[in-house]
Amino acid sequence: MSILEVKNIKYKYNKFDESSKYALDDISFSIDEKDFVAIIGESGSGKSTLISHLNGLYKAYSGEILFKGVNIYSNDFNLTDLRFKCGIVFQYPEYQLFSETVIDDVAFGAMKKGLSKDEAYKKSVEVLKLLGIEHLKDEAPFNLSGGEKRKVAFAGVFVMDPDILIFDEPDAGLDPVSKDQFYELIKSLNNKFGTTIIYITHNLDDVIEYANKVIVLNEGKIVKTGKPFEILTDKEVMTKANLEMPYAVSIYYEVLKKGYEIDKTKLKFDELLNSLINLK
Ligand SMILES: Nc1ncnc2c1ncn2[C@@H]1O[C@H](COP(=O)(O)OP(=O)(O)O)[C@@H](O)[C@H]1O
Ligand SMILES: [Mg+2]
Repeated sequence: MSILEVKNIKYKYNKFDESSKYALDDISFSIDEKDFVAIIGESGSGKSTLISHLNGLYKAYSGEILFKGVNIYSNDFNLTDLRFKCGIVFQYPEYQLFSETVIDDVAFGAMKKGLSKDEAYKKSVEVLKLLGIEHLKDEAPFNLSGGEKRKVAFAGVFVMDPDILIFDEPDAGLDPVSKDQFYELIKSLNNKFGTTIIYITHNLDDVIEYANKVIVLNEGKIVKTGKPFEILTDKEVMTKANLEMPYAVSIYYEVLKKGYEIDKTKLKFDELLNSLINLK
Protein backbone atom coordinates (compact mmCIF):
# COMPACT_ATOMS: atom_id res chain seq x y z
CA MET A 1 0.00 0.00 0.00
CA SER A 2 1.16 3.54 -0.73
CA ILE A 3 2.18 5.42 2.37
CA LEU A 4 2.88 8.58 0.40
CA GLU A 5 1.51 9.79 -2.91
CA VAL A 6 2.75 12.96 -4.49
CA LYS A 7 0.53 14.21 -7.27
CA ASN A 8 1.55 16.94 -9.70
CA ILE A 9 3.11 19.28 -7.17
CA LYS A 10 4.60 22.60 -8.24
CA TYR A 11 6.61 25.01 -6.14
CA LYS A 12 8.68 28.15 -6.68
CA TYR A 13 10.62 30.20 -4.15
CA ASN A 14 9.86 33.56 -5.68
CA LYS A 15 6.14 33.53 -6.17
CA PHE A 16 5.97 37.17 -7.24
CA ASP A 17 8.35 36.75 -10.12
CA GLU A 18 6.33 35.34 -13.00
CA SER A 19 9.39 34.61 -15.09
CA SER A 20 11.22 32.65 -12.36
CA LYS A 21 11.53 28.92 -12.76
CA TYR A 22 9.69 26.35 -10.72
CA ALA A 23 11.97 24.64 -8.20
CA LEU A 24 9.53 21.74 -8.45
CA ASP A 25 7.64 21.36 -11.67
CA ASP A 26 4.80 18.86 -11.83
CA ILE A 27 6.29 16.18 -9.59
CA SER A 28 4.41 12.90 -9.14
CA PHE A 29 5.45 9.60 -7.56
CA SER A 30 4.29 7.17 -4.94
CA ILE A 31 6.08 5.40 -2.13
CA ASP A 32 5.04 2.16 -0.51
CA GLU A 33 5.39 1.16 3.10
CA LYS A 34 8.87 -0.26 3.82
CA ASP A 35 10.33 1.24 0.64
CA PHE A 36 13.96 2.37 0.72
CA VAL A 37 13.95 5.26 -1.73
CA ALA A 38 16.92 7.22 -3.04
CA ILE A 39 16.39 10.67 -4.51
CA ILE A 40 19.23 11.56 -6.86
CA GLY A 41 20.07 14.47 -9.16
CA GLU A 42 22.74 17.13 -9.54
CA SER A 43 22.99 20.11 -7.17
CA GLY A 44 20.10 22.51 -7.60
CA SER A 45 17.83 19.88 -9.15
CA GLY A 46 15.24 20.29 -6.38
CA LYS A 47 15.95 17.37 -4.05
CA SER A 48 15.98 19.29 -0.77
CA THR A 49 12.98 21.37 -1.83
CA LEU A 50 11.09 18.18 -2.56
CA ILE A 51 11.69 16.51 0.79
CA SER A 52 10.65 19.67 2.62
CA HIS A 53 7.22 19.20 1.06
CA LEU A 54 6.82 15.66 2.31
CA ASN A 55 6.16 16.61 5.92
CA GLY A 56 4.33 19.81 5.07
CA LEU A 57 7.18 22.19 5.87
CA TYR A 58 6.78 23.79 2.42
CA LYS A 59 3.39 23.99 0.78
CA ALA A 60 3.05 23.26 -2.93
CA TYR A 61 1.35 25.85 -5.16
CA SER A 62 -0.69 23.21 -6.81
CA GLY A 63 -1.05 19.45 -6.65
CA GLU A 64 -1.64 17.14 -3.73
CA ILE A 65 0.29 15.03 -1.27
CA LEU A 66 -1.50 12.08 0.26
CA PHE A 67 -0.16 10.56 3.47
CA LYS A 68 -1.77 7.14 4.00
CA GLY A 69 -4.46 8.19 1.53
CA VAL A 70 -5.32 11.52 3.17
CA ASN A 71 -4.57 14.86 1.50
CA ILE A 72 -2.20 16.75 3.80
CA TYR A 73 -3.54 20.04 2.39
CA SER A 74 -7.11 19.40 3.49
CA ASN A 75 -8.39 21.74 6.19
CA ASP A 76 -8.77 19.22 8.99
CA PHE A 77 -5.43 17.49 8.41
CA ASN A 78 -3.11 17.60 11.42
CA LEU A 79 0.22 18.89 10.09
CA THR A 80 1.92 18.83 13.50
CA ASP A 81 1.19 15.16 13.73
CA LEU A 82 2.60 14.63 10.24
CA ARG A 83 5.91 16.17 11.33
CA PHE A 84 6.26 13.37 13.88
CA LYS A 85 5.14 10.61 11.54
CA CYS A 86 7.34 11.82 8.74
CA GLY A 87 10.64 12.77 10.38
CA ILE A 88 13.27 14.68 8.43
CA VAL A 89 16.95 14.54 9.32
CA PHE A 90 18.35 17.59 7.57
CA GLN A 91 21.81 17.98 6.08
CA TYR A 92 24.56 18.19 8.72
CA PRO A 93 22.02 17.72 11.55
CA GLU A 94 24.83 17.70 14.11
CA TYR A 95 24.98 21.50 13.91
CA GLN A 96 21.58 21.55 15.52
CA LEU A 97 22.64 19.74 18.69
CA PHE A 98 22.44 22.22 21.51
CA SER A 99 21.94 20.43 24.83
CA GLU A 100 24.64 19.80 27.40
CA THR A 101 24.36 16.05 27.17
CA VAL A 102 23.40 13.57 24.49
CA ILE A 103 20.45 12.22 26.45
CA ASP A 104 19.04 15.73 27.01
CA ASP A 105 19.16 16.41 23.30
CA VAL A 106 17.33 13.24 22.37
CA ALA A 107 14.76 13.61 25.17
CA PHE A 108 13.97 17.11 23.91
CA GLY A 109 12.64 15.52 20.71
CA ALA A 110 10.50 13.09 22.67
CA MET A 111 9.05 15.83 24.86
CA LYS A 112 8.07 17.84 21.78
CA LYS A 113 5.82 14.95 20.94
CA GLY A 114 4.13 15.28 24.32
CA LEU A 115 5.82 12.60 26.42
CA SER A 116 6.35 13.42 30.09
CA LYS A 117 9.92 14.03 31.19
CA ASP A 118 10.24 10.56 32.71
CA GLU A 119 8.79 8.83 29.68
CA ALA A 120 10.91 10.93 27.34
CA TYR A 121 14.16 9.99 29.09
CA LYS A 122 13.19 6.34 29.28
CA LYS A 123 12.33 6.27 25.60
CA SER A 124 15.53 8.16 24.72
CA VAL A 125 17.68 5.56 26.46
CA GLU A 126 15.89 2.84 24.47
CA VAL A 127 16.56 4.66 21.21
CA LEU A 128 20.23 5.29 22.07
CA LYS A 129 20.55 1.60 22.84
CA LEU A 130 18.92 0.68 19.55
CA LEU A 131 21.30 2.93 17.65
CA GLY A 132 24.28 1.47 19.50
CA ILE A 133 25.27 4.71 21.24
CA GLU A 134 23.89 4.27 24.74
CA HIS A 135 27.43 4.62 26.14
CA LEU A 136 27.46 8.23 24.92
CA LYS A 137 24.37 9.18 26.87
CA ASP A 138 26.05 11.53 29.37
CA GLU A 139 28.66 12.95 26.99
CA ALA A 140 28.59 16.51 25.74
CA PRO A 141 27.63 16.40 22.04
CA PHE A 142 30.50 18.65 20.97
CA ASN A 143 33.04 16.12 22.28
CA LEU A 144 31.85 13.41 19.91
CA SER A 145 33.16 12.38 16.50
CA GLY A 146 31.30 13.44 13.35
CA GLY A 147 29.67 10.06 12.89
CA GLU A 148 28.60 9.88 16.53
CA LYS A 149 27.12 13.37 16.46
CA ARG A 150 25.13 12.50 13.41
CA LYS A 151 23.73 9.42 15.13
CA VAL A 152 22.71 11.54 18.12
CA ALA A 153 20.94 14.04 15.88
CA PHE A 154 19.23 11.16 14.15
CA ALA A 155 18.19 9.70 17.52
CA GLY A 156 16.38 12.99 18.21
CA VAL A 157 14.18 12.35 15.18
CA PHE A 158 13.84 8.60 15.59
CA VAL A 159 12.65 9.00 19.18
CA MET A 160 9.40 10.41 17.77
CA ASP A 161 8.51 7.00 16.26
CA PRO A 162 8.24 8.11 12.65
CA ASP A 163 6.59 5.91 10.00
CA ILE A 164 8.77 7.57 7.40
CA LEU A 165 12.36 8.67 7.91
CA ILE A 166 13.73 11.20 5.46
CA PHE A 167 17.43 12.05 5.21
CA ASP A 168 19.05 14.87 3.27
CA GLU A 169 22.47 13.50 2.31
CA PRO A 170 23.08 11.37 5.42
CA ASP A 171 26.51 10.42 4.06
CA ALA A 172 27.79 13.96 3.43
CA GLY A 173 31.13 14.55 5.12
CA LEU A 174 31.31 11.16 6.85
CA ASP A 175 34.41 8.98 6.53
CA PRO A 176 33.83 5.71 4.61
CA VAL A 177 33.54 3.56 7.75
CA SER A 178 31.03 5.87 9.50
CA LYS A 179 29.12 6.18 6.25
CA ASP A 180 28.77 2.40 5.88
CA GLN A 181 27.79 2.07 9.55
CA PHE A 182 25.15 4.71 9.11
CA TYR A 183 23.64 3.03 6.06
CA GLU A 184 23.66 -0.34 7.82
CA LEU A 185 21.89 1.26 10.75
CA ILE A 186 19.18 2.74 8.53
CA LYS A 187 18.82 -0.58 6.74
CA SER A 188 18.37 -2.44 10.00
CA LEU A 189 15.61 -0.03 11.08
CA ASN A 190 13.94 -0.51 7.72
CA ASN A 191 14.09 -4.30 8.17
CA LYS A 192 13.21 -4.46 11.83
CA PHE A 193 10.45 -1.87 12.12
CA GLY A 194 9.35 -1.56 8.51
CA THR A 195 10.17 2.15 8.64
CA THR A 196 9.93 3.69 5.18
CA ILE A 197 13.20 5.35 4.21
CA ILE A 198 13.62 8.24 1.78
CA TYR A 199 17.08 9.71 1.35
CA ILE A 200 19.00 12.09 -0.86
CA THR A 201 22.47 11.09 -1.96
CA HIS A 202 25.19 11.62 -4.54
CA ASN A 203 26.74 8.25 -3.86
CA LEU A 204 25.25 6.07 -6.56
CA ASP A 205 27.14 2.90 -5.70
CA ASP A 206 25.41 2.95 -2.33
CA VAL A 207 22.08 3.43 -4.08
CA ILE A 208 22.60 0.04 -5.73
CA GLU A 209 23.51 -1.46 -2.37
CA TYR A 210 20.60 -0.14 -0.31
CA ALA A 211 17.69 1.38 -2.25
CA ASN A 212 14.79 -0.52 -3.81
CA LYS A 213 13.45 2.53 -5.66
CA VAL A 214 15.09 5.58 -7.19
CA ILE A 215 13.68 8.99 -8.11
CA VAL A 216 15.82 11.04 -10.50
CA LEU A 217 15.35 14.80 -10.58
CA ASN A 218 16.61 17.37 -13.01
CA GLU A 219 15.71 21.05 -13.03
CA GLY A 220 12.75 20.45 -10.76
CA LYS A 221 11.28 17.69 -12.90
CA ILE A 222 11.29 13.93 -12.55
CA VAL A 223 13.47 12.31 -15.18
CA LYS A 224 12.48 8.77 -14.20
CA THR A 225 11.56 6.60 -11.26
CA GLY A 226 12.30 2.89 -11.02
CA LYS A 227 14.49 0.19 -9.54
CA PRO A 228 18.17 1.09 -9.06
CA PHE A 229 19.43 -1.15 -11.87
CA GLU A 230 16.79 0.20 -14.28
CA ILE A 231 17.67 3.81 -13.56
CA LEU A 232 21.42 3.60 -13.22
CA THR A 233 22.04 1.55 -16.36
CA ASP A 234 19.84 3.85 -18.43
CA LYS A 235 22.37 5.98 -20.27
CA GLU A 236 19.75 8.39 -21.57
CA VAL A 237 18.42 9.08 -18.08
CA MET A 238 21.89 9.47 -16.58
CA THR A 239 22.95 11.89 -19.32
CA LYS A 240 19.76 13.89 -19.01
CA ALA A 241 20.29 14.19 -15.26
CA ASN A 242 24.01 15.01 -15.64
CA LEU A 243 24.95 12.08 -13.44
CA GLU A 244 27.97 9.86 -13.67
CA MET A 245 27.46 6.12 -13.70
CA PRO A 246 28.44 4.30 -10.53
CA TYR A 247 31.40 1.88 -10.68
CA ALA A 248 29.17 -1.18 -10.67
CA VAL A 249 27.41 0.01 -13.82
CA SER A 250 30.68 0.90 -15.58
CA ILE A 251 31.92 -2.59 -14.83
CA TYR A 252 28.66 -4.02 -16.15
CA TYR A 253 29.07 -2.18 -19.47
CA GLU A 254 32.77 -3.05 -19.75
CA VAL A 255 31.96 -6.73 -19.32
CA LEU A 256 29.26 -6.48 -22.01
CA LYS A 257 31.73 -4.75 -24.32
CA LYS A 258 34.11 -7.66 -23.97
CA GLY A 259 31.37 -9.92 -25.26
CA TYR A 260 30.23 -11.59 -22.03
CA GLU A 261 26.71 -11.82 -20.70
CA ILE A 262 25.96 -10.56 -17.24
CA ASP A 263 22.77 -10.18 -15.19
CA LYS A 264 21.77 -6.52 -15.25
CA THR A 265 19.51 -6.89 -12.22
CA LYS A 266 22.36 -8.04 -9.97
CA LEU A 267 24.70 -5.12 -9.47
CA LYS A 268 25.24 -5.12 -5.70
CA PHE A 269 28.89 -5.64 -4.77
CA ASP A 270 28.53 -9.32 -3.79
CA GLU A 271 26.22 -10.12 -6.69
CA LEU A 272 28.47 -8.46 -9.24
CA LEU A 273 31.53 -10.19 -7.82
CA ASN A 274 29.73 -13.51 -8.12
CA SER A 275 28.76 -12.80 -11.72
CA LEU A 276 32.35 -11.88 -12.55
CA ILE A 277 33.74 -15.03 -10.96
CA ASN A 278 31.29 -17.12 -12.93
CA LEU A 279 31.85 -15.49 -16.32
CA LYS A 280 32.24 -18.00 -19.09
N1 LIG B 1 15.78 29.35 0.03
C1 LIG B 1 15.80 29.47 -1.31
N2 LIG B 1 15.47 30.62 -1.93
C2 LIG B 1 15.47 30.71 -3.28
N3 LIG B 1 15.80 29.73 -4.11
C3 LIG B 1 16.15 28.55 -3.56
C4 LIG B 1 16.16 28.36 -2.12
N4 LIG B 1 16.56 27.09 -1.87
C5 LIG B 1 16.76 26.52 -3.07
N5 LIG B 1 16.52 27.38 -4.08
C6 LIG B 1 16.62 27.09 -5.53
O1 LIG B 1 15.73 26.03 -5.85
C7 LIG B 1 16.34 25.10 -6.73
C8 LIG B 1 16.38 23.72 -6.08
O2 LIG B 1 17.26 23.76 -4.95
P1 LIG B 1 17.44 22.56 -3.94
O3 LIG B 1 16.12 21.97 -3.64
O4 LIG B 1 18.25 23.06 -2.81
O5 LIG B 1 18.29 21.55 -4.85
P2 LIG B 1 19.19 20.30 -4.40
O6 LIG B 1 18.83 19.91 -3.02
O7 LIG B 1 18.87 19.26 -5.44
O8 LIG B 1 20.62 20.75 -4.54
C9 LIG B 1 17.71 25.67 -7.08
O9 LIG B 1 17.59 26.39 -8.26
C10 LIG B 1 18.01 26.58 -5.91
O10 LIG B 1 18.84 27.63 -6.29
MG1 LIG C 1 20.06 19.78 -1.31
